[in-house]
Amino acid sequence: MFGSPRVFQIVKIAAPFLLAVWFLGYVISYKSAYNGVVRQFKDERDLFLSDFLEHEVDGSLDGRGIAELCAGKRWSPGLMLSCEPPSGGIGQVKNAHLNCIRFAIEMGAELVTPRIIKRSEKDIKVVKPHNGNGPYKGEPLDYFFDFAHFNQTMSKFCPQMKIHRSMDDLYQVPSVLNGYETNLEKLHTQIVNGSVITNVTVWSGQLKSFVDEVSPPAKRTHPVRFHLDVTNWAFPTSAHNPTFVQHFGRILRIREDARRVSASALYNMQKRFQLQLDPRHGLKSDTFAGLHLRTERDAEHVFPSFEDQAAYLLDYVTSSKARVVFMATGADESNVTAFAERAADFDVTVLLKKDLLQEEDLNVLKGFTWDQRALVDYEIMLRAGLIAGPSQSSFAWNIALRRNYAAGASEGTLQVNTSAHIQWQDGHSTIFGDSEMGPVFRETVWP
Ligand SMILES: *[C@@H]1O[C@H](CO)[C@@H](O)[C@H](O)[C@H]1NC(C)=O
Ligand SMILES: *[C@@H]1O[C@H](CO)[C@@H](O)[C@H](O)[C@H]1NC(C)=O
Ligand SMILES: *[C@@H]1O[C@H](CO)[C@@H](O)[C@H](O)[C@H]1NC(C)=O
Ligand SMILES: *[C@@H]1O[C@H](CO)[C@@H](O)[C@H](O)[C@H]1NC(C)=O
Ligand SMILES: *[C@@H]1O[C@H](CO)[C@@H](O)[C@H](O)[C@H]1NC(C)=O
Repeated sequence: MFGSPRVFQIVKIAAPFLLAVWFLGYVISYKSAYNGVVRQFKDERDLFLSDFLEHEVDGSLDGRGIAELCAGKRWSPGLMLSCEPPSGGIGQVKNAHLNCIRFAIEMGAELVTPRIIKRSEKDIKVVKPHNGNGPYKGEPLDYFFDFAHFNQTMSKFCPQMKIHRSMDDLYQVPSVLNGYETNLEKLHTQIVNGSVITNVTVWSGQLKSFVDEVSPPAKRTHPVRFHLDVTNWAFPTSAHNPTFVQHFGRILRIREDARRVSASALYNMQKRFQLQLDPRHGLKSDTFAGLHLRTERDAEHVFPSFEDQAAYLLDYVTSSKARVVFMATGADESNVTAFAERAADFDVTVLLKKDLLQEEDLNVLKGFTWDQRALVDYEIMLRAGLIAGPSQSSFAWNIALRRNYAAGASEGTLQVNTSAHIQWQDGHSTIFGDSEMGPVFRETVWP
């Protein structure tokens, strides 16, 4: 039987195939073994840094929600949207930019990449040092975010949208030098709670009729630009597909040099306190606590007093098992020292980013502006086991909501003996205080 020509035929056909399968398996297992060997020889610190840069806290970006939204729109070549550059910190700017992009998607427009107004370096209370406005003002997107990542992600998931780096790239298109001003008021969009769009479907219709009225498509022979005022805390995220909500904000990733400094700080913290902070694995509450103390000069009269914030933060951390605190703040040294001294009575060590960095990274940090330094705080807070921050802070809300997605099912909430009002609490994050803006942030912050 064995020698029969039929069996021989089968073997002749199957052998190269089996050989190919075997070879492929060999290559795959060799490759993973190879990667394992490389990991062993790579410097531990370099490995931590590259793991951090390659793995965001909330895993890989799933663009299906973005793709679905973009695919459902009517796109008009030559129709452009630019947006007034927002000012302030990462929490404010990120949300305003995302709203700008959300408008452009709805319009089916090309996007002029939004810019950012830099705060006065002399006086941090002055968030908008120059009165001029328009799409040429401010710093490019890279001031906070990674432009290449933004462009690549949008090209991949929303290829319908053409992205222009800046107005400077459009100098040969004179028809877009002047833009048609627009904002929610001009669209007659109904809002509640100061800024929240009541009905996103109705807004969409209003936006389209406004555009068609101002620039009737039939008469549009040249490219045309609309210019949107800073529009923040506007979209109820719940009116969107959950996959979109979870991943939309990820198109704006913090610039790489700030992420690298954050990674260094976390590595140094891990070494110094024997914590398990592997950037490839999610959040574990028994690592360190990140506390956001917001008592800088620009926060007066908006945020609770130092005493009130410090009292809650101290209650919070002493109720937890964490004995290492990372303090995200630009507050006066006296505030930090006062807090650190009280915390020391409970055997809790309080650290700022400068305490966790050495020469080279410290120089990068010193080269940053005030708001750029907060980007480092943002990335470290994302990775903490526990965080707490005041309800007046869109920075704290953004971090808490993003961590909620990153952590998945929560581990049960921390019981804090406090008289403070709590606006958000899950197994990893707490927002305290009674700001009226709290519910609005909760509704409209894209994580
Ligand atoms: C954005 O990415 C696309 C696709 O890779 C590329 O063609 C385009 O030139 C990029 N745009 C800018 C402004 O860099
Ligand atoms: C407005 O705010 C109130 C109170 O914070 C909240 O209950 C309500 O859901 C908000 N409504 C909308 C549409 O945002
Ligand atoms: C929004 O308005 C549309 C059109 O008037 C209506 O069909 C829809 O039910 C409204 N949605 C909500 C959430 O009120
Ligand atoms: C905390 O900082 C504020 C604002 O700079 C200052 O007014 C206050 O005296 C400080 N309190 C302590 C205890 O350091
Ligand atoms: C909570 O704090 C109050 C006042 O500081 C104290 O009297 C009470 O015993 C505390 N309760 C617990 C459960 O620690």
